[in-house]
Amino acid sequence: MRVIVTGSAGFIGSHLVDRLLADGNDVVGLDDLSGGVHVRDGVELWEMDVADPALAGRMAAFRPDVVCHLAAQVSVRVSVADPAGDARVNVLGTANVLESARLAGARKVVFTSSCAVYGVPDALPVPADAPLRPASPYAASKVTGEVYAGMYRALHGLDFTTLTLANVYGPRQTPEGEAGVVSIFTDALLSGAPTRVHGDGGQTRDYVYVADVVDAFARAAGEAGGGGRFNVGTGRQTTDRALHTLVAEAAGAPDDPAFAPARLGDLPAMAIDPSATADALGWTPRVDLAEGLARTVAWARERAVARS
Ligand SMILES: NC(=O)c1ccc[n+]([C@@H]2O[C@H](COP(=O)([O-])OP(=O)(O)OC[C@H]3O[C@@H](n4cnc5c(N)ncnc54)[C@H](O)[C@@H]3O)[C@@H](O)[C@H]2O)c1
Repeated sequence: MRVIVTGSAGFIGSHLVDRLLADGNDVVGLDDLSGGVHVRDGVELWEMDVADPALAGRMAAFRPDVVCHLAAQVSVRVSVADPAGDARVNVLGTANVLESARLAGARKVVFTSSCAVYGVPDALPVPADAPLRPASPYAASKVTGEVYAGMYRALHGLDFTTLTLANVYGPRQTPEGEAGVVSIFTDALLSGAPTRVHGDGGQTRDYVYVADVVDAFARAAGEAGGGGRFNVGTGRQTTDRALHTLVAEAAGAPDDPAFAPARLGDLPAMAIDPSATADALGWTPRVDLAEGLARTVAWARERAVARS
């Protein structure tokens, strides 16, 4: 298949490029390099803004079968400070990707959403058909992207699958993303710096390993799951305090965080139910949290050695 990956230099996008190439696909990346740094040698990169009107011409020349759309303004906090800037990338950028994909005759767009769209849910783990209650401009922009993808299917027959990601962690992640706490704990515990847990440490998140996430994208790029939105998470909640213990064990560091005040606006609990994803895409998470954290800490340790 001919596949375009937007956000190809980012954390998840760069792993997806690796996976799609390993599967024998013809891959082009798109990234403005505003956040991502992972440019793979030998893979064509369109270094451009995802909202650039010139995208349509480039896509038409490449004629992709599938566009995996991951480029985004990814920070909830930045979206609260600059909602229009967030919407420019996440809403106008998504509209530009969909229109360019349509004009290029693509079969499908795989859209990347976030469990933030569920806000404070009625029950945990959240099923994929739960009401959407965005509680930040970032979450609202993701809901809008989902609505646009559905509209393009109805209006133009351009197929889509939306993947609603839990908190993704693994090698190459940065502190800014939705599972940034893994990166923050890892770097601090490896360097002997102090760590802090906010509130009473009981806030929960659903951590899913990046290799499992790109496996969901590889599956969604096929024919299955057309017109659907699917949760890509484990369904399990991990408290901040328990996460600290697991990272400390993986790093061989003391499990002794300080406690800081809770942060305004942080959602108290999250986990998303992947059972419908298993039915439609045959996807289940395979890497458990202890194993994934061990791999993440090993990568961070190697990177720290390479930098010293
Ligand atoms: N990491 C998570 O836990 C998580 C959870 C839910 C959803 N997501 C979504 O997954 C996708 C990838 O996130 P990530 O964690 O890899 O973040 P990331 O910041 O590593 O990757 C995003 C990439 O998009 C690029 N980008 C940003 N603005 C752009 C623009 N205007 N034009 C072109 N490229 C632009 C950045 O340079 C970066 O390489 C995003 O859509 C994000 O919202 C991530």
